[in-house]
Amino acid sequence: MTMSNSVFPKGFLWGGATAANQFEGAWNLDGKGPSTSDMLSGGTHEIARRITRSIEDGIHYPSHEAIDFYHRFKEDIALFAEMGFKTFRFSINWTRIFPTGMEQQPNEAGLKFYENVIDELKKYDIEPLVTISHYELPFGLTQEYNGWAGREVVDCYTRYAETLFKRFNGKVKYWLTFNEINIGTMPIGNFLGLGILNEGTTDFVNQADIPQLRFQALHHQFVASAKTVKLGHEINPDFQIGCMICFLTTYPFTCHPADVQLAQQHMQMHNYFCGDIQVRGQYPYYAKRYFEENGITVHMEDGDLDILAEGTVDYYTLSYYMSNCVSANPDQETTSGNLMGGIKNPYVEASDWGWQIDPVGLRYTLNEIYARYEIPLMVVENGLGAFDKVEEDGSINDSYRIDYLKSHIEQMSEAVKDGVELWGYTPWGCIDLVSASTGEMEKRYGFIYVDKDNHGNGTLDRKKKASFDWYKKVIASNGEEL
Ligand code: BG6
Repeated sequence: MTMSNSVFPKGFLWGGATAANQFEGAWNLDGKGPSTSDMLSGGTHEIARRITRSIEDGIHYPSHEAIDFYHRFKEDIALFAEMGFKTFRFSINWTRIFPTGMEQQPNEAGLKFYENVIDELKKYDIEPLVTISHYELPFGLTQEYNGWAGREVVDCYTRYAETLFKRFNGKVKYWLTFNEINIGTMPIGNFLGLGILNEGTTDFVNQADIPQLRFQALHHQFVASAKTVKLGHEINPDFQIGCMICFLTTYPFTCHPADVQLAQQHMQMHNYFCGDIQVRGQYPYYAKRYFEENGITVHMEDGDLDILAEGTVDYYTLSYYMSNCVSANPDQETTSGNLMGGIKNPYVEASDWGWQIDPVGLRYTLNEIYARYEIPLMVVENGLGAFDKVEEDGSINDSYRIDYLKSHIEQMSEAVKDGVELWGYTPWGCIDLVSASTGEMEKRYGFIYVDKDNHGNGTLDRKKKASFDWYKKVIASNGEEL
C-alpha cells in the first residue's frame, strides 16, 4: 500500500461524529441537569416524538440511557482507535457542566468526565473535535427564558464556553460553537435548536412557530457564537473555532425560471444565511427583504454588529446527507428529508427514511461553499441511516452503508482535486446511537453495532459491522482504498 497517490492531504482528519444527548445516557447522574433533548419521547418515521413539559411516568425517553457511552467510553474509544481514527467529534452536554444553565460555578464531576474522555482520546493520538452545543439546551433555560428567545442566554452560553476553553486549553484545539445552527431558520428548529417551547407545541413535528421570536433567538445565537470565537482566540490564538451548518442542497426541480428562483431563495435563507453571518461577520443583503415580507424585526443591542464582525469563524463545517428539489408547482410528489423534505428527485435513490442519496451533490456543495468563503471546510456529518440485520453467525453485512460512504468519499476526493481545502471527514454516528429526528435506535449509522432496540431493550453490547474493517482500510490508505 502506498500513501503517495492519495488526493487527500497528509494529516487529513478521518474520524467519526456523535452528540452527547444521543449516546451518553446517564442523563441525571453526577449532578447533570435535564436538557431539552431529555424531554423528548421516542418516536418513529410515522409517529412524531412528543415534547413533554415534565418527565412523565411510563414514557420511553431515548436519551436517558442512550448507548451508555458515559460508562463505556474506554471500550468505545478503543474501537475508534482500532479503526485508526485521527479525530473524534463529540459534544459536551451543557447540563453536565451547568445543570440549569444559570449557575455561576461549574459542576466539577461533569468537567472531570469530559477530561477523562479527552485524555483517553489523546492516549491514542485521536484529536478531539468538540461541539459546544449540540441540540441540548439546559431545560432550565427553556423554563426561565423560553430558551434562546431570552437575551440572558447569551451570557449563560459564553460562561459555559469560557469554562470549557479554560479547562481544556492545551488539550482541545478544534471547536464548533453550535451544531446545525441553521435549524433555527425552520419551524422544526424551535425546540431542538433554540430551546423555544411555545404554547400549543405538542410534538417535534407540530411546533407552534412565531417567526419573529425564532429569528430573534437565532440572532442571540449569532451574538453568542461570535463572542465565543473572540473569547476563544483571546484565551488561545491557536484554537480553531468553526461554524456548523446542516447543508440541505436544493435543486430546482426543472429549468423553469420560477423553479430556479425558488431554489435560489431556499439556498439563501436555509443554507447560506447563518454561514454568511458567521463567516463574513454581517447579515447578508437578502435577509432584509425576507424579514420585511415575513414581518420580522430583529432587535439588536448597541455593539451587536461589531461583535458579529469581530467573531468570525476560522473554518466552516457541514453535515451533508442528501439533496432536495423545490418546485413552484405545488402538485409534485414530495419526500421526507433531514430537517425538511422536498420534491422527489427522479434521478437519485432514497434511504428507507426517504432521504435522497446524492453523492455528486456533495462535490457540488463543497465547491459552492468554498467558492463563497474560501476558508477550510470539514464534512463533520454524513452517513446512511438504515436497518441492520445481525446474521446467525453474528455478522452484520452492511454493504449498503459501505456503498453510500464510498460514493461520498469519492466525490469528496473530486472536490479536493477541484481545489477545495478540506480538512477532515467524520461520518455521523460512527457507533449506533439514538436518532435525533425520530428517537429510534433502529435507524443505525454506525460502523459499530449496539444491541438495543427502539423500545430500550438489549444488552448494549458492541459488535463490529462489515463497514468497520472497510473504514479501517480507508483511513490506513488515506482514502485511496475504497
Ligand atoms: C443531523 C444532526 O441533523 O443529523 C444529528 O446533527 C442527527 O444530531 C443526524 O442525528 C442524523 O439525523 P437522524 O434524524 O437520522 O438522527
